[in-house]
Amino acid sequence: MTAYNNSALRELVQPDRVHRDFYINPEVFDMEMERIFGRIWLFVGHASQVPNNGDYITTTVARQPVIMSRDRKGEVHVMFNRCTHRGSQVCLEQSGNTQRFECPYHAWVFNTDGRFAGAPYPKGYEDGFLAKEKLDLVKLPRMEIYRGFVFVSLSTDVPDIDVFLGPMKDHIDAFCDRSPEGEVEACAGVFRYRYSGNWKLQMENQTDVYHIMFTHVSTTDEDGKQFRREGAEEDEAGKVKVLAQDSRLDDQWEEHPLGGHRHGHVYMGRFAMDKKNSGPIYDRYKASMEDAYGDKAEDLMTVKTHNSIFYPHWSIQHLTQHIRVMNPISVDCTENIIIPLKLKGAPEEMWHAALRSNNNSHSPSGMVMSDDMEVWVRCHEGLKTQSTDWVVLARGMNENFTGDNTGSYESHGTSESGARNQQVAWVDYMCGEG
Ligand code: FES
Ligand SMILES: [Fe+2]
Repeated sequence: MTAYNNSALRELVQPDRVHRDFYINPEVFDMEMERIFGRIWLFVGHASQVPNNGDYITTTVARQPVIMSRDRKGEVHVMFNRCTHRGSQVCLEQSGNTQRFECPYHAWVFNTDGRFAGAPYPKGYEDGFLAKEKLDLVKLPRMEIYRGFVFVSLSTDVPDIDVFLGPMKDHIDAFCDRSPEGEVEACAGVFRYRYSGNWKLQMENQTDVYHIMFTHVSTTDEDGKQFRREGAEEDEAGKVKVLAQDSRLDDQWEEHPLGGHRHGHVYMGRFAMDKKNSGPIYDRYKASMEDAYGDKAEDLMTVKTHNSIFYPHWSIQHLTQHIRVMNPISVDCTENIIIPLKLKGAPEEMWHAALRSNNNSHSPSGMVMSDDMEVWVRCHEGLKTQSTDWVVLARGMNENFTGDNTGSYESHGTSESGARNQQVAWVDYMCGEG
């Protein structure tokens, strides 16, 4: 028997605050895995992480280990990493290429499309048993691929992926359309690390403009360079420092565009301090975009969004060019997978600059990420105290916020509207009304 019926769940989320159990209660976490992660579309990876036949990656989906593979015919599959004999995970490598998956326990073998390929000493089974049993690795109930982004659902009863993504599909398009070939490619591996805090602390942080000038002040001191962008000659970090110190520029933060849509998706517009690119590399990029798209090139090249956060657990950061996956491991442990993405057909120098930017900012020791992880862990530890039950998210409540999970809204500045929009969606999912 759970202590949380629907009315108790609703009590946890008030218009301008949430109860600490929302973040730290293991029972709430288990319900989230079932009622949110178990019922909607989740992101597994990008198809270009398995470019060749026989390539695979392993990851988790709502705590359940899965394999994403490309079979001998070039088809992508996502299946549970669970031997159909006695349950062992058949593959523990994070990525690789193989002819077949062989279980380490009794060496049952599976093809890269999951089909059962045989067991040693088959005579030990009754005649025909191995042929008639369903022994293939089990696929996830639903899978869809959109522009290389691979989605799965643990339930067959999900809305169409287009409906679920809604206007956020444009954010995927905007990212891919910055490539002269209209494609992005994950060809540099991933960063993969964990922090000791709840997954929602990070989800809510990603549209939090309020924290930037404080949490990241240590990285915006004299030598900070993490905001350097491809083609940028000046030190962007210097500008952040100026913004943080110059009160006359407060308005720049407060005018910063935010927004969101149904189903808990949110986004942050581009920072005013990101300067327009120029220079010979940029000119080559521009020429290849104009070749590909003609008059539309300039618009497609213009990055309008800083990041796009897809509920419940992944995001695109447009300028540093990565996907971030936030896989919940337990109530107080979250795994981050950072997947840098190349704009196919753009100058190599831009890709190298993007990789440097990712190394500096979102690797495990990256300046931005290590600042953020420090505060998420502190939040999780602080919320365990009995001091007060409530977390205050009232900033920007006076604006015209209509994030009621029925449509889209626009917000701005240091408002906590993004967190509130996610929380409204959380209640709807948890109470079966998503
Ligand atoms: S558990 Fe996999 S072969 Fe026995
Ligand atoms: Fe941050």
